[in-house]
Amino acid sequence: MGLANKHIVLGVTGGIAAYKSAELARRLRDRGARVRVVMTKGAEHFITPLTMQAVSSNPVHTSLLDPDAEAGMGHIELARWADAMLIAPATANFISRLAHGAADDLLTTLCLATPVAISVAPAMNQQMWRDQATQDNIEILRKRGILILGPAEGDQACGDIGPGRMLEPDELLAALSGSFRSGMLENVKVVVTAGPTWEAIDPVRGITNHSSGKMGYAVAEAAAENGARVTLVSGPTGLPRPDNVHTIRVTSAQEMYDAAMEETAAGDIFIAVAAVADYRPATAAEQKIKKRSDTLTIELIRNPDILTAVAKRGLLFTAGFAAETNSVEMHAREKLTSKGVDLIAANLVGGGEGFGTEDNSLMLIDKTDTKTLPRMRKSLLARRLIEEIAERYHAKNPTQGPR
Ligand SMILES: Cc1cc2nc3c(=O)[nH]c(=O)nc-3n(C[C@H](O)[C@H](O)[C@H](O)COP(=O)(O)O)c2cc1C
Repeated sequence: MGLANKHIVLGVTGGIAAYKSAELARRLRDRGARVRVVMTKGAEHFITPLTMQAVSSNPVHTSLLDPDAEAGMGHIELARWADAMLIAPATANFISRLAHGAADDLLTTLCLATPVAISVAPAMNQQMWRDQATQDNIEILRKRGILILGPAEGDQACGDIGPGRMLEPDELLAALSGSFRSGMLENVKVVVTAGPTWEAIDPVRGITNHSSGKMGYAVAEAAAENGARVTLVSGPTGLPRPDNVHTIRVTSAQEMYDAAMEETAAGDIFIAVAAVADYRPATAAEQKIKKRSDTLTIELIRNPDILTAVAKRGLLFTAGFAAETNSVEMHAREKLTSKGVDLIAANLVGGGEGFGTEDNSLMLIDKTDTKTLPRMRKSLLARRLIEEIAERYHAKNPTQGPR
């Protein structure tokens, strides 16, 4: 599962971001992948083959017409060895040569000779990226089924600001492992809750929170991409229903509880991502409350705890999100025990973190370990999380699969 034991050919081309390729190779190896690096002549101006050899623990390939290499790991052999190819960084020049079927160096020849998936992480000045020639070349690659990872927007080495930054190594890893998505959760029923809840005070007012639902929707999508049968129980959000996911829309915590209990009656994995209100008004006024007195007291009563209730049902795996504003790990560990769940995915919220943002980081806490998934886009983070959950689910239930 994931990248463990996968054979990755990492292509490095001649851009400033090549310095990040060393970190990328190291992280690939940390994730259990075997890495062989192929560098263009241009790349050698930015990072040495010696560095890439050290971090990949394998000889680096730089030349197509190398009699020694042809006797050992020649280009056809290397093409056959690969489970996937990742070109990071990919220069405008390389993208152009790939789009037009060039085979005038080892990397382009390999790309033609390999039947496996090719992912390309463009990295260049924003104007080079925006140029019509580059955009046309990217379109050609996309049509050919080549995965284009990024680029990200932001400050550039040349001082410009705009699109063209290479994605960070962790984002590339998440996307690459996503390209190996398989039936990790085939035939597994996964129930996910997402979004905020709305606790009515009267017909026009209510108590809610800033949860956007983006993370929960991304988790539901990632589970479905991995073959799971997914039900998403969603509080009020403006998000479209994800593809291949059975979506049930609810409003209040009580409705979310009822739907979650019904759906998990025959579920395997429950992932509670929703930000559920702990309390609701004891009674919701039937008519709009009028402005009569200087103060108004609303009595609140406890809502049922959905995660604790589902965990008691003895599903094969339960995971919950914990949004904390301080002492994240300590509070998350308390939740792991008090709620009796298998995994807590904790994140820091408030001060511009977590709710409503496009990216996030997570601390995964289970009975034996704490692991951090670094900041990345929520869609990529969700894929990484599903991978982590699938691994733990299969380890806990060896008779269930991998299916
Ligand atoms: C200092 C410097 C930085 C460069 N950075 C980039 C870059 O980030 N992205 C890019 O597409 N080209 C960049 N180039 C241009 C490429 O190095 C050039 O197009 C080269 O021919 C690429 O060769 P390759 O694609 O075979 O590796 C840079 C050139 C120089 C001199």
